[in-house]
Amino acid sequence: MNNHFGKLLRFEQNNNEVKVVFEKQAAYFTVVREDIIRVMVPFFQEHSVSKAIEKNPVVETSYSVLQDEDGLVIATDRIKVQIADDFAVDFYKSDGGILAADYRGERTIVKKVSWETVEMLEAEGHDVSGLKEEEIQFQIVKQLDEGDDFYGLGDKSGFLNKKYYEYENWNSDLPQAHNEDFKALYKSVPILMCLKKNAAYGIFFDNTFRSSINLGKENPKYYYYTAKGGNLDYYFMAGDDLQDIVRSYTYLTGTTPLPQLWTLGYQQSRWGYENTEDINYVVDTYRKEQIPLDVIHFDIDYMEHCKVFTWDEANYGKKGELFASLRERGVKPVTIIDPGTKLEEGYFMHDEGVANDYFVKDAGGNVYVNVVWPGDSNYPDFGRKEVRDWWAEKHRMLVDMGVGGIWNDMNEPASFNGELPQDVVFYDEDRKTNHAEMHNVYGHLMSKAAYEGLKGLTGKRPFVITRACYAGSQKYTTVWTGDNQSLWHHLQMVIPQLCNLGMSGFAFCGTDVGGFGADCTPELLCRWVEAACFSPLFRNHSAKGTRTQEPWRFGKEVTDINRKYIKLRYQFIPYIYDLLYQGETTGLPVMRPLVLHYSYDPEVRNLNSEYLVGEHLLVAPVLEQGVTKRVVYLPEGVWYDYWTGERIEGKQYILKDAPIDVCPMYIKAGSIIPTYEAVQYVGEKPYNKLRLLITPKEGSYIHFQDNGEDYAYKNGAYNLYRFTTSAEGQLNTEILHEGYSVYQNITTVMIGK
Ligand code: NOJ
Repeated sequence: MNNHFGKLLRFEQNNNEVKVVFEKQAAYFTVVREDIIRVMVPFFQEHSVSKAIEKNPVVETSYSVLQDEDGLVIATDRIKVQIADDFAVDFYKSDGGILAADYRGERTIVKKVSWETVEMLEAEGHDVSGLKEEEIQFQIVKQLDEGDDFYGLGDKSGFLNKKYYEYENWNSDLPQAHNEDFKALYKSVPILMCLKKNAAYGIFFDNTFRSSINLGKENPKYYYYTAKGGNLDYYFMAGDDLQDIVRSYTYLTGTTPLPQLWTLGYQQSRWGYENTEDINYVVDTYRKEQIPLDVIHFDIDYMEHCKVFTWDEANYGKKGELFASLRERGVKPVTIIDPGTKLEEGYFMHDEGVANDYFVKDAGGNVYVNVVWPGDSNYPDFGRKEVRDWWAEKHRMLVDMGVGGIWNDMNEPASFNGELPQDVVFYDEDRKTNHAEMHNVYGHLMSKAAYEGLKGLTGKRPFVITRACYAGSQKYTTVWTGDNQSLWHHLQMVIPQLCNLGMSGFAFCGTDVGGFGADCTPELLCRWVEAACFSPLFRNHSAKGTRTQEPWRFGKEVTDINRKYIKLRYQFIPYIYDLLYQGETTGLPVMRPLVLHYSYDPEVRNLNSEYLVGEHLLVAPVLEQGVTKRVVYLPEGVWYDYWTGERIEGKQYILKDAPIDVCPMYIKAGSIIPTYEAVQYVGEKPYNKLRLLITPKEGSYIHFQDNGEDYAYKNGAYNLYRFTTSAEGQLNTEILHEGYSVYQNITTVMIGK
């Protein structure tokens, strides 16, 4: 509630929009769909142009508006919003059950200066400009009901359930070991999901300024969201469970598109592969050890003095030669690209950027300079289409060389010489604005440029990976979680972090396997490759100066365990690909917390150490040093131990022996999981045989198959199969759509009896 709104006076209706006029301020409520309401107060601009929501989501919906002495009620078949004086806004389910009410009690710990205080000070003639800039911001304070749990919020550190923690949305590159008291990391994805005792809702706060969210940390009776600027602009989504909210949120901001098949293969990276010999040694050792590998990443080492879109021929040979030889070995190169462009006269990127006015400027009108890897550098103003187009076209050199994908880094944007001042001038298309507004979308816009560049230049599904981004970036880019470390608690963070990213739209995500900073140990590497075996982006990466951690660096046992799990991953590629294919429509991720499917099982609301791959496969890795037994929670239903075939009733905890080479995995009764033969790289042999893992009980499953590369599937060049199995395991295959060469052979393997 905000008393700078005053009394609710009247409303005006215009199609799906209801303008609610208060004494001092108007607010707009838009019925987006019957389960989604947008709330917008134009504190900053009359109209907000969303970076996250690019298609108009509003559909014709029947709804009612009624005004009485208590205020105004807007109701659809799924949701009811009650609006009262002082902008009190309460959301209900259509059956009258409360979803989210404004908090009406006392704020017990008042950290911020309230509106009343500022108005009082101003009335008394005090200078409140400092307070206004720092403290005057809108706040939404909602009641925290007993049993409410919170999820989503992108890549935040800590645990799956965000209740009682506080976070900020300000893309941040922080070198310290990330732990649960970190407020911000590299991405800003302000989608909050609340799972109540008997319902779920989501609030997407579409605001790019620095914002924070306090989920009962200040006081367990309420939670609040506040932003430093911009409009109050949020979308309220009502649902029965978390799946509904994920679907609605990705309906608004877009789903992760189907990637190329090889991007699901194993990937190796290290900052410090300094020349052709280093790269060849790594790739050849993979082949010698018979450990599958699809991708090798080129970190900043490959450029001349860290200058983007250059190639260091002295150390990596003639342009194109190394890439061609990698491709002959089945390995696709992915190159890093940082936004910071070296300030050096005569360097084409610098000269073109300055001549065309493509770099951001300080408040005095000079091209802004800060320091990143190349030394003094300038920052392209990606908010402008002409700058994005320029940048996109620059990828041509790498594409011509045979690059497979682009890895966007340092795009918070990072700066070694202090943060960019808030007033550095940026543009949002042709509107002049500043760093304060554009910071959180800088990585988003850079990734969009890379995506459009790759798409236009190759015609294939772009493989872009980014560190920084905003809500909706999933349409353009895959993400990784930045600079984790070789620490057990960072291994423990993999599941909550990737599951929350997945629910926040980023179906294609991963962490640096083995840890980026600090020195990996043999045991940690084994447990990490086991835990991350089904993470969509599966990349081992480490920092210069740390202990090397490629799979063979710790002796035979560790090499064998790496090979076992990397090969296992290759077998499951068609299952992961199916999940991404389905996710393109549903928005549901690959890696799922159990709470996404068993929302009302109290055991899973805080389950940080297990995940589902789709609905059928449950993975419960060992995440602690020295531990060889694992307590596993199996939710309702019957489950089969992947390794032994043992039948286990769900809704119970079991103790599983998990020596160093065992990652506990369970398949649900009635499952059909497509697998391929493990190959050394995607494309080594044609995938013309499909092997279905099945478990007892009738099952049904839809499987997608195409060329795994381009957009031909959008024009019908794909197969869609429906497999059904009887309780005894008899398979029936129907081809629902045929537009690609069909499998020569489909077999089944029964797990369990
Ligand atoms: C920071 C990135 O997070 C890391 O992955 C990379 O290796 C270094 N920058 C060097 O480019």
